[in-house]
Amino acid sequence: MRSERIIGLSLCRRLGISVVIVFCVSLSGFVSPAIGQSTGAAQGRILYNETSHTFRMDGGGVSYVFGVNQNGELQNLYWGQRLQSADPILPAHTNGGTSAFDLPVNATPQEFTGWGGGLVVVPDLKISFPDGNRDLVLHYVSHTIRDNTLTVSLKDISRDVAVDLIYRMDDETGVLARSARIENRTKLPFTIEQAFAATWNLGASNDYQLRYLTGRWAGEWNLQQMPLHPGKVVLESRRGSTGDEVNPWFAIERSSQPDQDVGEVWFGALGWSGSWQINVETDWQDRVRVTGGYTPFDFAYVLAPGESLEAPTFYGGYSNAGIGGASRLLHRFELDSIVPQAPHRRLRPVLYNSWEATGFDVNEAGQEALAEKAASIGGERFVMDDGWFGQRKDDHAGLGDWYVNPEKFPHGLKPLIDKVHALGMDFGLWVEPEMVNPNSELYRKHPDWVLNFTGRPRTEGRNQLVLNLARDDVRAYVYGFLDRLLSENDIAFLKWDYNRNWSEPGWAAAPLDEQKEVYVKYVQNLYSILTELREKHPHVEIESCSGGGARVDLGILRLTDEVWPSDNTDPFDRLSIQDGFTYAYAPGVMMAWVTDSPNWMNDRSTSLEYRFLSSMQGSLGIGANLNKWKPEDFATAKRLIAEYKAVRATVQNGELYRIISPALGSEYSATESVSRDAREAAIFAFLHSSQKGKPYPQLYPRGLDPEAVYSLHLQEGKLAEDTVPRASGDYWMHHGVNVSLRGDFQAAFFTLKQDAAQ
Ligand code: GLA
Repeated sequence: MRSERIIGLSLCRRLGISVVIVFCVSLSGFVSPAIGQSTGAAQGRILYNETSHTFRMDGGGVSYVFGVNQNGELQNLYWGQRLQSADPILPAHTNGGTSAFDLPVNATPQEFTGWGGGLVVVPDLKISFPDGNRDLVLHYVSHTIRDNTLTVSLKDISRDVAVDLIYRMDDETGVLARSARIENRTKLPFTIEQAFAATWNLGASNDYQLRYLTGRWAGEWNLQQMPLHPGKVVLESRRGSTGDEVNPWFAIERSSQPDQDVGEVWFGALGWSGSWQINVETDWQDRVRVTGGYTPFDFAYVLAPGESLEAPTFYGGYSNAGIGGASRLLHRFELDSIVPQAPHRRLRPVLYNSWEATGFDVNEAGQEALAEKAASIGGERFVMDDGWFGQRKDDHAGLGDWYVNPEKFPHGLKPLIDKVHALGMDFGLWVEPEMVNPNSELYRKHPDWVLNFTGRPRTEGRNQLVLNLARDDVRAYVYGFLDRLLSENDIAFLKWDYNRNWSEPGWAAAPLDEQKEVYVKYVQNLYSILTELREKHPHVEIESCSGGGARVDLGILRLTDEVWPSDNTDPFDRLSIQDGFTYAYAPGVMMAWVTDSPNWMNDRSTSLEYRFLSSMQGSLGIGANLNKWKPEDFATAKRLIAEYKAVRATVQNGELYRIISPALGSEYSATESVSRDAREAAIFAFLHSSQKGKPYPQLYPRGLDPEAVYSLHLQEGKLAEDTVPRASGDYWMHHGVNVSLRGDFQAAFFTLKQDAAQ
């Protein structure tokens, strides 16, 4: 127990500024607020030390410390393994710099910098004032601690530009959410040219390795790794949305030989679904700064007096259990703190989607026939994909016209929805609300509603243009049709698609100097539509899809329940796609479908068992053409879906261990999901091709309770004949399991379960 005494209301004067706060003093000299915050052991803590003028945040296994230095700058002092409560924290002291070319302002690891005063590292904020001045130097003014949130207010040294830095640390995982709110308190408008949420600082080390995720359509989630050397790595999307070229996530390990479960890792992810940028800068002393927020490319945001702009939230975390530990922390944080139903999230139902079976060729009888078959194998949600609306026969027409196509559904959607309900499933529908085909009634009526520059070409992607959601009339139209659709039909789920990037991002209807605000206002309106729809239709769940995984980030995940990682459903490709995905995002939000063989992507043939086991590592869906299945396929699917349902809580909410990562060479791969109470583990193992009679590597499960006794249950595939049925967690983790996989595209699935009495 921390010992503390309330010493009441204090007025502290430092650097000519006032801080009013009610606080308590702990034995270590730190003060913590007495207002609105419990200080129980499980709580994250924010402590302010008045003497050293330092702040310390503790959550999970992490401490984050910074202070106000003698210049009034906020200076980072520590970020990493949780410190002991009595550990000393020295006051912040600006670094001297070593020459006239290396000013102290650049040598000091600041929490948030304005561009000014000789700053040459990446600033968090850059402003042009109407009188031509572009110098911005931000110093500490005051702070408040309320409801586990620390807000530190900074101000320019002469102008009334106020910046509130907001810090909130998750008690359980130590993930710290940081953002910045910029307010114009001057008498004239000014233009923000760059707005980031935060700078994350890492101390000098010459063995940092950076990891990030890259991709393309149908080839998302490739994990990249590179050593950090002096210089700058820029991760960015200029596409108007998150994009799949790079995902707004990074991890930095301090090790020249990174390991899955050993070593120190710092990681971060942006909560923003528009164009973004993350900079990883390494200076000549091998110190690292990571900054991120709106990309400054083509960015300008005019703040009138009294207005404010908030940068996207930048989440950061630390793990001492390798990159595997880092992803497990992020998964837990996402499921318990980010997704809309957090922390009591519903498990993902097993869904059926007809896209790969029927394409655009949907109609009442066809969908009902598929629904019957989907229900017979244990499907819980039936989703009708593209093709049900407007004059949509292929991807050349119809987007924007959100009325039910009367030829395909002469009686509306009701008969199909009723049928799906009668079969015991709920009903979901595909929409792509932000897009329009030029061949549509909507576009003929409102050609000015799309992003475009007056008099310039409108470049189409998949024969469609992007509606300018920043416009109030477009926002009202999109919200209106979705609200109507959900009010008039009993719909439990929307697959919300977004099938292209921006081009020609003009907004001619806005005042000239505000046209670039489209990058921010578009996404704000997207978020506000999703928020309003969720409030009005609280039972509706939503999937974020963008031609696969091009809009997956912690911003969209706050408002959607699951995501579609890739259009590529080849079960072998999926092993590495899913592996990459899970570095940043939880298996519990990762939809994974079983589709047909040979798969359209690579023309590869695989067994139904192999396809199921590949998808069962995430949130299972079926996307195959059930009309072509044989009776034995239905029997296999029914068995596997039942097996999946028995372990899905562990797979979706548990701790993921990459026993053999396919990123290391895809001949073998194996994952293990362990329930949070460690009572159950589900292990999936895959073999690409046997070669030269080499046996499958011994698998060493992790994360079990060493002393508890676990029984092994083989669900699919084969184990060595001498495998014992029961043994301790220690035995399984160190003796291992000998899976007997031989041939091409083989897979096995088994569980380890603690005996009930334990
Ligand atoms: C995108 C999605 C697919 C499917 C099609 C429909 O490509 O990723 O799953 O919904 O659109 O047009």
